[in-house]
Amino acid sequence: MTSSASRLEPRRTADGSFSLFSSEFGEAFHSGLGALAEAHSKCVAPAGLDRWAAGSTLRVLDVCVGTCCNTAALLEACQARGLELSWWGLELDPEPLRLALADPGFSSQWQAGTTEQLAELCSSERMLWGDARSRLSELLSGQRGQLDLVLMDAFSPSRCPQLWTLEFLSGLGALLQPQGRLLTYCSAAAIRNALLQAGLHLASIAAPSGLQKQSSDWSGGTAASPSPLDGDPLLRPLSLMEQEHLRTNAAEPYRDPSGCADRAEILKQRQLAQARAMASGTVEGTGAWRRRWGVGNSRHQ
Ligand SMILES: C[S@@+](CC[C@H](N)C(=O)[O-])C[C@H]1O[C@@H](n2cnc3c(N)ncnc32)[C@H](O)[C@@H]1O
Repeated sequence: MTSSASRLEPRRTADGSFSLFSSEFGEAFHSGLGALAEAHSKCVAPAGLDRWAAGSTLRVLDVCVGTCCNTAALLEACQARGLELSWWGLELDPEPLRLALADPGFSSQWQAGTTEQLAELCSSERMLWGDARSRLSELLSGQRGQLDLVLMDAFSPSRCPQLWTLEFLSGLGALLQPQGRLLTYCSAAAIRNALLQAGLHLASIAAPSGLQKQSSDWSGGTAASPSPLDGDPLLRPLSLMEQEHLRTNAAEPYRDPSGCADRAEILKQRQLAQARAMASGTVEGTGAWRRRWGVGNSRHQ
């Protein structure tokens, strides 16, 4: 086992905010353009906080807490609106938060008192350490149909498919109250298809132009809810291009019926399922879809 110092490398993103690179997963925690900007555009803004009156309490789950950047941004936005947070977190590794809290730059990106609140949340019994798959069942037994927001920020599906399976995403969806929202940066067809199969309605999170790294970043992510997501200016219906994406072999969901399969097994089973679907002629190859719409490759799709 390598030390956390070599597994997790502190980074400063273009907006000056603190982030990490994980050599274990081979991926950065946030877009290089801004950890804080991403938390605002992909969690806080599409949460639709104006839907709650001052004095209300929001029930929120942060999936893959990491440095706690998403929770911190939401916490400050809620405080500015007089909203309370009732919070749960899922995370495997305490090191990202420890590294963030030890970094003076991380503390300075928040208002006075925010990092103390993060430390308090993450030392409470609501911070469910361990494999998120095994801890989710505890949440489901007490919070099914109760949560207002689920912030889903796992590493990308190809790096961490364990947390993007039909089974895991269905469990997250089952936590939502009827008007609740699951929000994620991810716009991959496999993830959107799994959320649809879980019975949720989908919308595309508007892509903030500053965060668009390439033309293939057509969407800022995905919002999913038990109810239709109409009337929010930051959420738009899936375009024809996005709908057709869901009919390609890229939309084959990741599966993990046992709840404990490893990455290699999940990727292998999905590849086999994709090959079967292509052979049966029921789906279009993603290459043809990309050529038709002039779309390049992106890690989130
Ligand atoms: C992209 S980072 C999360 C970034 C975080 N939201 C932030 O703002 O810093 C992904 C996180 O998933 C965690 N993780 C990876 N596999 C996990 C698992 N099976 N269960 C729970 N957490 C996991 C990693 O430790 C890492 O902190």
